[in-house]
Amino acid sequence: MLDTGLAGRTVLITGSAQGLGAALVRAFLDEGAYLAALDIDETANRELAAALDPSGARILPVRADLSDPGAIAAACEEIQAWRPVDVLVNNAARPLAKTLWEITPEEWDEVFAVNLRAVFLLTRALAAGMCERGFGRIVNMASIAGQTPRPTGAAYGTAKAGLLALTRVFAAELAPYGVTVNAVAPAMIDTPMVRSVGPDTLAALTAQVPLGRIATPEEVARVAVFLASRESFVTGATYDVNGGALMR
Ligand SMILES: NC(=O)c1ccc[n+]([C@@H]2O[C@H](COP(=O)([O-])OP(=O)(O)OC[C@H]3O[C@@H](n4cnc5c(N)ncnc54)[C@H](O)[C@@H]3O)[C@@H](O)[C@H]2O)c1
Repeated sequence: MLDTGLAGRTVLITGSAQGLGAALVRAFLDEGAYLAALDIDETANRELAAALDPSGARILPVRADLSDPGAIAAACEEIQAWRPVDVLVNNAARPLAKTLWEITPEEWDEVFAVNLRAVFLLTRALAAGMCERGFGRIVNMASIAGQTPRPTGAAYGTAKAGLLALTRVFAAELAPYGVTVNAVAPAMIDTPMVRSVGPDTLAALTAQVPLGRIATPEEVARVAVFLASRESFVTGATYDVNGGALMR
């Protein structure tokens, strides 16, 4: 069994209220960590925190809109006043499936603000303390959409491709301080977002996965826990968790 060393550490997970984010909260909680759970959906986020941590001692639910730099700064201040952050999991994302002809400039900017700029701002706000303490782990939730082209993925896929580049650059900048930065690139995960495409589309998409099914959120969360663990010697990497949908 891997000793993750995460017991007593503080982990910030963005997009925590549902889907993969909720599974990440559960997985890090199981490791004995304290969780700052950040989401724009205050109600669902508070409900999840109350269900998983009735005492309120282990999870701090925080409401913030990651497209707003001021809200990010305020959230980081609130969280750091609670506990210094050791692990940052950038999981929140704004999905957008539109063609070249359909995407509006406002949608393009919003996808980039949430999926890329927020990662830069959160990293800058929280990595300073990690560097001072000589330990930090940053895990960025990317996507196969950033590795291989898909029609309707211009904004989302390009932002995710940017996230992979940013992961490597920040990994290089922060390595001297004991802070690792890695990305996870899932294909399809069994979340409400994916189920909403309907059974026929889901079956067609599943048929493209060599392992014959889509990932569970727990399978993806386990990789994030590994990358956040104390003894990981991995940095600047992208972990493909895609059932073989892209082999490289
Ligand atoms: N579901 C998949 O099949 C899949 C595949 C590849 C990659 N991913 C990536 O995994 C991550 C999680 O995916 P998911 O399916 O759980 O997504 P989801 O849409 O179910 O959940 C995303 C969460 O982020 C929150 N969020 C969205 N915009 C926000 C904002 N502006 N400020 C704060 N919070 C905001 C939402 O409220 C939601 O709780 C994302 O980065 C996604 O790109 C998902």
